[in-house]
Amino acid sequence: MARPNELVAADEQVMGDGVVTGFGRIDGRPVCVFAQDFTVFGGSLAEAHAAKIVKLMDLAMKTGAPIVGLNDSGGARIQEGVVSLAGYADVFLRNVLASGVVPQLSAIMGPCAGGAVYSPAITDLVVMVRDTSHMFVTGPDVVKAVTHEDVSFDELGGATVHATKSGVAHFEADDEVQCLLLLRRLIGYLPSNNLDPAPLVPTTDPADRADPELDSVVPGDPAKPYDMTEVIRRVVDEGAHLEVHAGWARNIICAFARLDGRTVGVVAQQPMVLAGVLDINASTKAARFVRFCDAFNIPLVTFVDVPGFLPGVAQEHGGIIRNGAKLLYAYAEATVPKLTVITRKAYGGAYDVMSSKHIRGDLNVAWPTAEIAVMGPEGAVNVLYRDEIAVAKDKERKRAELVAAYRERFANPYVAASRGYVDDVIEPHETRPRLIAALRMLAGKRDTNPRKKHGNIPL
Ligand code: HXC
Repeated sequence: MARPNELVAADEQVMGDGVVTGFGRIDGRPVCVFAQDFTVFGGSLAEAHAAKIVKLMDLAMKTGAPIVGLNDSGGARIQEGVVSLAGYADVFLRNVLASGVVPQLSAIMGPCAGGAVYSPAITDLVVMVRDTSHMFVTGPDVVKAVTHEDVSFDELGGATVHATKSGVAHFEADDEVQCLLLLRRLIGYLPSNNLDPAPLVPTTDPADRADPELDSVVPGDPAKPYDMTEVIRRVVDEGAHLEVHAGWARNIICAFARLDGRTVGVVAQQPMVLAGVLDINASTKAARFVRFCDAFNIPLVTFVDVPGFLPGVAQEHGGIIRNGAKLLYAYAEATVPKLTVITRKAYGGAYDVMSSKHIRGDLNVAWPTAEIAVMGPEGAVNVLYRDEIAVAKDKERKRAELVAAYRERFANPYVAASRGYVDDVIEPHETRPRLIAALRMLAGKRDTNPRKKHGNIPL
């Protein structure tokens, strides 16, 4: 037991102080774990509780082992005052220092408040359990007192809310067993630390496997959607991938998968949702994922089908400029191998953002269906030929002719290819072998950023 705490009566001190800490192995690799016990003062954190977590985090950083937190806590222990706050600050500091050094995973396994949500918020990946876990800075009672809003635990901070609305949770598990299994699966994709490679998982899926079905995935009509997860499934090892933030900002897909047995981070537009447009949430979701992958040397594979940034007052006033810039920044700063496949649209600023050659893409290929231009044909024709259309007898026909001419001239991958902005125009069925060949070539890639204390990402 920790040394006696003079702030607390002896009969109120509990052996272990409401947290179990230790280490074990997942798939043979060491992992440090702490688990809070809600039956001890609501799992709240005080001096000894904090000291145990801090000790574990220091050990994890020293040895390069991931940290998994099983959080079930009402936050700082109220009756111990500033000592509890100090304990949380000690944990927060370790969370920050460990960020980018070892993966930090948080499971939320009960009602969590205060520091018990801010510490997970700094970690890399957060899993919540449906029905039994909650996250809020202040609970429904305080909300009622301050804003007079009546809200249930679930409505305020349930798993579904955080996995679909706020984006605080990356995963929503059906129950605690699924939550724990998910943590194990996630660890399986990740390197133990920023110096080790991700585990190699031998596969029977041939590296040279061509998939003829890919040749007909993109519909002939550019306005028609298709399911990008189908493309990902057909390219990666055994079709297996694990989506991060699957329920939030669904217009972009972020997923862990493997190519040639090694982990890759896949970022892809989802044309089925908002036509795959980049909006505020999609930009922040993907920016954080890209930075995570870069920090842990996980190559990025990007599938592009983006009509541009989402126009509108709500987006502009919400800061699409500031937030869209996050994704641009994240891709530009990333030094891991970056492979890009343009499947269809790559319009405007979004073309630049989505791992383009110009921001250090290593292999950028396009399918013959790719359309790369400053804007889509309809928008471009309206800007360029407004007067011409206005005086035409049959305006619709004129517009259609101009759109067809624009499409012929710009909406294809060949102008970009002739400039070297895409390295090759490939048949969709060749995608997997081409990506794997590039990854093998890039296995020893070394790239750096200029020396600096740190950059200033537009937060
Ligand atoms: C001491 C606490 C506690 C706390 C809960 N308990 N939270 N004891 N300090 N922070 C105790 C309760 O008194 C109760 O004790 C037992 O744990 C179970 O709590 P219940 O309220 O009965 O459980 P439930 O209804 O499930 O509600 C859970 C809860 C609620 C939503 C977490 O307890 C709550 O709102 N707690 C306070 C949250 C909070 O404001 N924490 C401080 C945040 S400040 P008995 O003896 O009755 O069983 C903070 C600073 C960090 O964390 C800095 C952030 C940047």
